[in-house]
Amino acid sequence: MRHIVSAADLSVEELALLFERARKLERTPRGSYLPTLGGALVALCFYEPSTRTFLSFSSAVKRLGGSTIETADAKAFSSAVKGETLEDSIRVISDYADLIVLRHPESGAAARAAGISLVPVVNAGDGGNEHPTQAFLDLYTIWNAVQEGRLPDNGLRFLFWGDNRHSRTVRSLVKLLASHGEALGIPVREVIFTGPPGFAGMSENIEGIRSITITDYRPTLDADVVYITRPQKERHPQGLEPEKWGFTARMVEELPPHAIVMHPLPRNDELPTEVDEDERAWYFKQAHSGLFVRMALLEYLLND
Ligand code: NCD
Repeated sequence: MRHIVSAADLSVEELALLFERARKLERTPRGSYLPTLGGALVALCFYEPSTRTFLSFSSAVKRLGGSTIETADAKAFSSAVKGETLEDSIRVISDYADLIVLRHPESGAAARAAGISLVPVVNAGDGGNEHPTQAFLDLYTIWNAVQEGRLPDNGLRFLFWGDNRHSRTVRSLVKLLASHGEALGIPVREVIFTGPPGFAGMSENIEGIRSITITDYRPTLDADVVYITRPQKERHPQGLEPEKWGFTARMVEELPPHAIVMHPLPRNDELPTEVDEDERAWYFKQAHSGLFVRMALLEYLLND
């Protein structure tokens, strides 16, 4: 049984297949998908707020002929309120469903669930730890840009801008770039982390990336991929307020013409809406990809 707890849980070969399949699904006219999930039942257990992840998983299951059982606000409306442990809940839910998609505020919750579940568990974000399906769709977006010839295939400079320390999407994507990037034709030349003092860098070292800079000064904007994140306030120690660290439309103008600006969304004021009109704004395209990557992943896990 396969669980997806970390972005590194799919091999390079599996991720390449996933991307090819996602691309095929993306090119299929809406309404003509085959019911490849064969009536599978997927439990969406969300103990933390979500818009895109929750709804794109729900949509992905239904578009492929499956159905869902959902607890969208499990922290308030599940037996967690009555003191039930995650382990007990998962044990029971895994009897009701063929796969569990779990979002939880605690780091390590997905691994705990995977240790108990009778069916595959997909981590949809566990605290400040990981958000593997977001990393898959982020990498798919970059992979598409390389395949289209928009981004160079001989080494990319990444600029991670914002609250990198507390962002699970940044952690999962950087880990995936380090372990799978080169083999998928997305070699990393350099990673620059920038953000407010104390928030710029990830909390651990990353092996497998040649050049990493962490700075709370405004770095070069000569980057191929800019990945912006909002302040992850829900994970800040009490009383810690980051300085404002916003990107601006002016900064986008300074980027190379081929650069792409990404953001996992939701955004706050670190990414003003004026940027949306720029051709380099790729975050809605990125969110659009999420549906197809999740469709491909569900097909893969449920037909394994
Ligand atoms: C992210 C998350 O939940 O970590 N959202 C998402 O799934 N697209 C990013 C965030 O909340 O800032």
